[in-house]
Amino acid sequence: MSDFLISTSNLHKSYQLAKESIPVLNGINIEVTQGEIVAIVGSSGAGKSTLLHILGGLDVPTEGSVLFRGKDIFDKNDLEQYRSRTIGFVFQFHHLMSEFTAMENVMMPALIKRVPQKQSREEAKQILRDVGLANRLNHMPSQLSGGEQQRVAIARALINEPDLILADEPTGNLDSHTGEGVFQMLEDIVRKKNKTMIIVTHNEKLSERADRIIRLIDGMVWG
Ligand SMILES: Nc1ncnc2c1ncn2[C@@H]1O[C@H](COP(=O)(O)OP(=O)(O)O)[C@@H](O)[C@H]1O
Ligand SMILES: [Mg+2]
Repeated sequence: MSDFLISTSNLHKSYQLAKESIPVLNGINIEVTQGEIVAIVGSSGAGKSTLLHILGGLDVPTEGSVLFRGKDIFDKNDLEQYRSRTIGFVFQFHHLMSEFTAMENVMMPALIKRVPQKQSREEAKQILRDVGLANRLNHMPSQLSGGEQQRVAIARALINEPDLILADEPTGNLDSHTGEGVFQMLEDIVRKKNKTMIIVTHNEKLSERADRIIRLIDGMVWG
């Protein structure tokens, strides 16, 4: 039994385009402990998003494995549950549903999990408070600033109390000041709740606030 929350073993990924096989990940071995905040940095095209998607069970490796609490996530027949409950995913683009309020967007994953409406509402309210949006509950996404939209997306990723938060450049579309605020908020919540986070960022300054930095170059871990 491994001591790591999540680890990968000799992870390879290539995409098949026409007759050509394009290697993207070339043997990734990483290990992340419960409670750690790990930043993944690397230039555009290095394979960061591909790696994060595979860690979250959103894409499958060509070779190698991902172990979560010692079990291969692709072996289990509860991959759906792993994706929706164990992992909280935050994307660069918020992907909020434009027809629904901030509160409704955040409630959605809880409702899908069949948490009763009233309880989902209370939990959504609490987590929106935690991300600093207590007074934006009934705003539509279009009525929110970029930073606020991303806070809602983070609240939505957190409502089901995932063990592991995977964030793919969550501040990539924000100006540096707003991005810093969102990063700080995310870091505070993760530390307060003793969660684990793997966060992809382009921002060197922000990455230094993580416990550890993993550098990805051409689909390989550097150093
Ligand atoms: N679905 C796909 N089909 C073919 N190639 C892809 C696909 N997704 C990503 N790639 C390629 O894989 C490489 C790594 O992409 P990505 O993981 O998105 O990099 P990063 O997030 O580090 O910028 C890029 O060269 C990209 O063009
Ligand atoms: Mg990317």
